[in-house]
Amino acid sequence: MEKNQRFTITSALPYTNGPIHIGHLAGAYLPADIYARYKRLCENDVAFICGSDEHGVAISIKARQEGTSVKSIIDKYHNLIKETFEQFGISFDNYSRTSNLIHHETSKKFFKKLDQDNCFEIKTTQQLYDKSENQFLADRYVMGECPKCDHENAYGDQCENCGATLSPNDLINPKSKLSGSKPVLKETKHWYLPLGNYEKFLTKWILEGKRGIWKPNVYGQVKSWLEQGLESRAISRDLDWGIPIPRDDAKGKVMYVWFDAPIGYISSTKEWAEKENKNWEDYWKKPDTKLIHFIGKDNIVFHCIIFPSILKAHGEFILPENVPANEFLNLEGRKISTSNNWAIWLDEYLKDFKNMQDSLRYTLTVNSPENKDNDFTWKDFQSRNNNELVAIFGNFINRVFVLTEKYFDNIIPKYDELDSNQIIKIYDYVSLISGSLDKFKFRDAVNHLIDLARTGNKYLADKEPWKRHKENNIKEVEQIIYTSLETCALLSILSEPFIPSSAKKIRDILDINLVNWTRLKSSGKIIQPGHKIKKSYLIFRKIEDDEVEKQLKKLNSNIKS
Ligand code: 2FM
Ligand code: ZN
Repeated sequence: MEKNQRFTITSALPYTNGPIHIGHLAGAYLPADIYARYKRLCENDVAFICGSDEHGVAISIKARQEGTSVKSIIDKYHNLIKETFEQFGISFDNYSRTSNLIHHETSKKFFKKLDQDNCFEIKTTQQLYDKSENQFLADRYVMGECPKCDHENAYGDQCENCGATLSPNDLINPKSKLSGSKPVLKETKHWYLPLGNYEKFLTKWILEGKRGIWKPNVYGQVKSWLEQGLESRAISRDLDWGIPIPRDDAKGKVMYVWFDAPIGYISSTKEWAEKENKNWEDYWKKPDTKLIHFIGKDNIVFHCIIFPSILKAHGEFILPENVPANEFLNLEGRKISTSNNWAIWLDEYLKDFKNMQDSLRYTLTVNSPENKDNDFTWKDFQSRNNNELVAIFGNFINRVFVLTEKYFDNIIPKYDELDSNQIIKIYDYVSLISGSLDKFKFRDAVNHLIDLARTGNKYLADKEPWKRHKENNIKEVEQIIYTSLETCALLSILSEPFIPSSAKKIRDILDINLVNWTRLKSSGKIIQPGHKIKKSYLIFRKIEDDEVEKQLKKLNSNIKS
């Protein structure tokens, strides 16, 4: 459990072309939030950074579809997404947006530095052009057959069926998404990042330096990219939405969204540092700062190959210490799909399950797609909530509170010796949970947390304070309840990163403050005898069968026949 360390923790900037769903939360936001909260609780200096990714073709397309301006789309979804994150307790230190001036300036400065240092190649090539719309067809403005898997509706930048990264010219029978017409080839000039120049550096840094350290899924993907050899990538586009390339000979050209988006982490840090009176450079340039990127697996190449090459080319920046990317979360056995509405939208979840953000946080953590794709099902959600959160965690806390009220009128018994055997057992969980979190093993960590509650339940079952009370062994009852209340207090502190809103409710009932994990003593005594606790209530609630059926019905009505 290291302390006094500086961390820059980032979560992938979400595109503002729609609301966010459970796949996003499980992939890049929830694990990052758990990690950031944990690192803060260990007295580290944490900058947890995110913001909206507001450029890119997907957003212009959405605006066209809705017959409105890009500005109204990004404002609408930026606000919705920001609000959703707040409601789910995602504790960003700053949530910015890439349309902010500070981001445009930071990105232009970055481009200029690389341009001055001759880090770009300038090439003129033939690209697809829609004559009726007078527009080059970048990325998602063009669709066609995938040359790798024959899938009919591959995008110009990627095939969603086989995952291949494509360029628009690779597509067979391309069609303009703007007009539906067949595009023609037309000459255009662009700026390229010659990734081949960075192969040696990437091989040494990742393949040699991160073996056994980075997750196998991340390491494996990087290895396969490097084995195939890296090609130059265009970092400019012929579009009217984006950050203009700061050169006189680049009129009408903007930065490729994947060039400016990761720089968004830096501009968001700058924005935060200005507000907080901090030095942003400490978080991006000091070699002892640990930079951690939380992302989904589709973003690995950008965060492990392209962005590090950009940072390396610049020369003044640190590189990520780790990129603990998650695999995908499926939903009821199918791939989550925004276009087919096969998703659980977080804003809708919050309406249907009021104040139950922790139930979803818990389920998505215990079932996180950490090492392989995983499936979310409503039935599993119900059973995790009812059988673990309610029946083990909630049940323990509630039993202890009820007994404290019944026997001691809510005053922590004046017995000043905790049961040392039990205290040793429960305090073991501090290192078990922190050890798992340090290794980005969030599933293990949250399972340990439930085991801690199990340990509390077992203690009550073994000691049977109700029997001893009947026998009038009050001293023994006092010790059992005091020890159990200490377990509740420990649970309220160790559960803070995972289920922060419930953890706070438990502390409010106990009338205690949050304690840094580094300050926890193995002898216990977070709470003191004689202290009065507040009236308790049920922190968690069961999810009924009809609630699950309603959700399944709603989801299945989206299947197109
Ligand atoms: O895949 C996505 O949703 C992108 N908007 C992620 C960007 S991450 C970062 F680099 F900004
Ligand atoms: Zn394909």
